[in-house]
Amino acid sequence: MTDKPSDETNDDSNNGTGANALWGGRFAGGASDIMQRINASIFFDRRLYRQDIAGSRAHCNMLVAQGILKAEDGHAILKGLDQVEAEITAGTFEYDAAKEDIHMHVEARLGELIGEAAGRLHTARSRNDQVALDFRLWLRDEIDALDPALKQLQTVLLDRAGEHADTVMPGFTHLQAAQPVTFGHHLMAYVEMLGRDRGRFTDCRGRLNESPLGAAALAGTSFPIDRQATAHALGFDRPAANSMDAVAARDFAMEYLAAAAILSVHLSRLAEELVIWASAQFNFISLGDGFTTGSSIMPQKRNPDAAELVRAKAGRVIGDLNALMVVMKGLPMTYSKDMQEDKEPVFEVADTLTLTVPAMTGMIGDLAVNVEVMEAAAGQGFATATDLADWLVRELGLPFRRAHHVTGSLVKLAEEKAVDLDGLSLADMQAVEGGITEAVFAVLGVRNSVASRTSHGGTAPSQVRAAIAAARSRL
Ligand code: ARG
Repeated sequence: MTDKPSDETNDDSNNGTGANALWGGRFAGGASDIMQRINASIFFDRRLYRQDIAGSRAHCNMLVAQGILKAEDGHAILKGLDQVEAEITAGTFEYDAAKEDIHMHVEARLGELIGEAAGRLHTARSRNDQVALDFRLWLRDEIDALDPALKQLQTVLLDRAGEHADTVMPGFTHLQAAQPVTFGHHLMAYVEMLGRDRGRFTDCRGRLNESPLGAAALAGTSFPIDRQATAHALGFDRPAANSMDAVAARDFAMEYLAAAAILSVHLSRLAEELVIWASAQFNFISLGDGFTTGSSIMPQKRNPDAAELVRAKAGRVIGDLNALMVVMKGLPMTYSKDMQEDKEPVFEVADTLTLTVPAMTGMIGDLAVNVEVMEAAAGQGFATATDLADWLVRELGLPFRRAHHVTGSLVKLAEEKAVDLDGLSLADMQAVEGGITEAVFAVLGVRNSVASRTSHGGTAPSQVRAAIAAARSRL
């Protein structure tokens, strides 16, 4: 934040006693400086100004339609709101900690512009339903902007998976060579994760899309308002059913943060793989200039900083989820000022995702795949041992447990001779299991291994291509 809370109280915002002009009727003196600074949210909630003004327009129109507000006052309010919005957008608007938050700033400026009619806008409304409204509207926009970015990341992963549906690499469990897979298959795992991430944000959007406006402070209002009309005007599915829940609920924000935390964990796993793959020891991929940096002392280095930061920023997002959960935990009904602390974690997470998601999209699109290195590595670590065991079951009718044992002995033998499994002679193999024939060598190659895994969702290139086609039609 570039702006600092002002140290002085704003003379315009009090009635000469130092008391706040918007709620200071029963306050004789002004707030202490530290009170103002702990109380003010303007230096972060100013981000809600568009939503705040949109909510006020809808509320104003409804008040006029219901005969609660005179048409001429409504007209003046709408005109004034346009001007306030223009000033904020142009950057000429003045902020002041004495006016606490965006709601009071907009209303105070409206008063300066149109006089007494401004004071009628808050009829049948409270800052409690107002802030709940603004925050939901803001988050809804944010989720709507995130979805295409996630789809873009999926699309790049799909494109790269299509290029590498046949590229063989080691598949790992425990980061130990397990069985050969294709690079396309590996990338498609993330397409699936991201699909579920998008689903979580969509679910969150669906649940948050109820309008709190008209709940007023907590109990509703005695004015004959039309909550259906304001809900409809603001693109909500319906008004929130319970006025207390409407002002007290922040599960929509927690749900967003939870979805963001899971997404960030997924991104951090992929980022970690990029870091590992780009190391000289693995050398599976090369990251270009766009997402790496050099070292000031070691001329040979190309550091995968963007991937490291995507990996690290998951910590921030998880922390923000934790922060809001702890703020909300144990709060009695309904609004408490604690809830003003809901915004910064959400803003920080939204800002973080606007960096991490496109950074990952860029890295996946840019990376060069070292196909030969991957394929050579795929055969290391006896990665086709399962293929050998399966062959013993299929061709010799051994029970799998026995086949597992025989294969283990063959791996031990190969280890002693410092060769891969296909480096053993037929005689070596037959010494362990007499029934083995020359045909076994066909399953020891990594390409055959991968091609044989044709089960639904398996790594065979034919399956990977089918998965890519299915994912493309889902997108
Ligand atoms: N700035 C407040 C917030 O973010 C707005 C709501 C204030 N309501 C109140 N009753 N003081 O939560």
